[in-house]
Amino acid sequence: MALWGGRFSNKPTDAVFALSQSISFDWRLAPYDLRSSLTHLVVLENAELLSKDDAQKIRKALKELMADVSSGKFLPVNEDEDVHSALERGLTEKLGSLGGSLRAGRSRNDQVTTDLRLFTIDHMMILAHQLTELIEVILNKASEYVNDAAPGFTHIQHAQPISFGHEIAKHAHAFARDVDRIDDWLLRSSVSSLGAGALSGSSLKLDPVFAAKNLGFERSFENSIDAVSDRDYVAEALFITSLIGVHLSRIGEEWTLLGSTEFSWATIADEYSTGSSIMPQKKNPDMAELARGKTGRLVGNLVSVLTMLKGLPFAYNRDLQEDKEPLFDSLDTLALVIPAISGMIATTDFDREKMKMSAPTGFSLATEIADYLVRKNVPFAEAHEAAGACVALCEKHSCQLHELTDQQFLDIHPALESSVRGVLTVEGAIASRTTAGGTAPSQVVVQISAAMKKTLDQRKEIASKMKAFSEMMGA
Ligand code: ARG
Repeated sequence: MALWGGRFSNKPTDAVFALSQSISFDWRLAPYDLRSSLTHLVVLENAELLSKDDAQKIRKALKELMADVSSGKFLPVNEDEDVHSALERGLTEKLGSLGGSLRAGRSRNDQVTTDLRLFTIDHMMILAHQLTELIEVILNKASEYVNDAAPGFTHIQHAQPISFGHEIAKHAHAFARDVDRIDDWLLRSSVSSLGAGALSGSSLKLDPVFAAKNLGFERSFENSIDAVSDRDYVAEALFITSLIGVHLSRIGEEWTLLGSTEFSWATIADEYSTGSSIMPQKKNPDMAELARGKTGRLVGNLVSVLTMLKGLPFAYNRDLQEDKEPLFDSLDTLALVIPAISGMIATTDFDREKMKMSAPTGFSLATEIADYLVRKNVPFAEAHEAAGACVALCEKHSCQLHELTDQQFLDIHPALESSVRGVLTVEGAIASRTTAGGTAPSQVVVQISAAMKKTLDQRKEIASKMKAFSEMMGA
């Protein structure tokens, strides 16, 4: 059903309808559209623009329609242009022309963005909740390996030995920032547009502040033109989802690399791996690769919306209809990827022996020699030079740092006494890094428990916001 037509003598052609319809993707806004209609109904009733009796009839029909939509009894048809048209048809089928009353003081311009905000808030909360679960999985996995040494890398070259628990736990912090970002987004994006009308507000005695409160928003709009044109909340949500994708992708890359035959550190569980149709021996890390691959579309969706918004005049333009599919796609994509990656991480085993054996290789203890000299008040530049000379000598003689003789150490620098051997152990090097946030197991344990507490607290907060939201939706 079209919501316009009075001034037209001809109906749109099939090609026009095909291009302009959004019902093929916006039907999922139906529950939010119906809920905001309930609020608009109260606004019209309070303004005495609807009799109590009519308002009651419309309320009853809206509630029935809500049930019919959720049971699938009421469905859109091909002739419906968008979700708003479909639902007005549903209401009119129940009430006759009274079903069209809710259009008073409301335009699809303020309606669509109100619906989309509700949808996005709902889904960003679900996403934040899911992220806290992923963070918990990462931290639990990290706890298993706190006391296991591994080489730490820079430039994918052995750098300094680290606790492998520290290595795993780092990912939790990236996602914790994403949860913070969602929190922050929620505050900024919780703005109602209902009452902005087409662009200028309304001559009817509507009450946008009441509407905002009734829909659980923090605030109502301050400028009706901005209210119908603002899609910052979509762009920001897409940035957040892109960054989550980037974080997942970096895990994907790491797991793929550590699971390769050359590394053979990670064994991904069978149920999170896939086989090859031709090579029977293959066990591939497809979940990790898909996490990496899906990030392309997440970033693409952000770029698509930013490009659509760039240069767009304010107030409503039909271009804005292009905000939905990228947003839906990004949220759907993460809803698929996060549980699979959580499961993959939870069930991956790392080869402790192999990591431990390779921890001291690549002269990863050279920094210890420099730090040893610094503790003896040798200027760092000189200490660095001396440690470098030790490495060069080892390379020349194909030996490890601890295999240099006392005399060789002394020849390189007079302060390099035999006690230097005391710092040339992986365990010692790791255990000595006790500065806050460092890799010493004593610090890693503190780090993990603080991060765990934060994520469990945040999960509780999000759960209570989700509960309030679902109560609002059911009101
Ligand atoms: N389907 C449209 C959208 O998604 C709804 C708003 C239509 N408004 C209009 N003035 N044509 O943006």
